[in-house]
Amino acid sequence: MPRALLMSLVSCLAAVHQASLISRCDLAKALHEEDLDGFEGYSLSDWLCLAFVESNFNISKVNENTDGSFDYGIFQINSHYWCNDHQSHSENICHVDCQELLSPNLLSIVNCAKKIVSSAGGMKNWVEWKLHCSGRPLSYWMTGCHLG
Ligand SMILES: *[C@@H]1O[C@H](CO)[C@@H](O)[C@H](O)[C@H]1NC(C)=O
Repeated sequence: MPRALLMSLVSCLAAVHQASLISRCDLAKALHEEDLDGFEGYSLSDWLCLAFVESNFNISKVNENTDGSFDYGIFQINSHYWCNDHQSHSENICHVDCQELLSPNLLSIVNCAKKIVSSAGGMKNWVEWKLHCSGRPLSYWMTGCHLG
């Protein structure tokens, strides 16, 4: 097989494998477009730090918790309270199907995240944010990102 063809095949496969990952700056741009910048007093850096500590920017991440509930997507939104996974009891406060929180179209995710961050405790509702992002200098998360 010609080397050039082989190389493009390899990079194509790599791209498929990476499809669930969103780049840091692409995420910043999308969240900016959805007006999360400054929403409830949280900066885009807070959201980027949150996405990193929760999912490593993996849009399709699903994680099962010890209580039988699941966390979905880039912000690891929990099925017990926020979305309906048709498996366990859910308050479904966001009125959304959990599967929708895995969509690369971030609209449902952003709408639900806005509800969470508007509730008592704000971003502290995400334990990982509280542990790893809260009260720390975070502006470096936006380094090199141009929101256009
Ligand atoms: C993203 O999460 C999914 C589901 O948890 C997993 O199968 C996949 O390997 C992850 N992708 C990366 C690049 O880590």
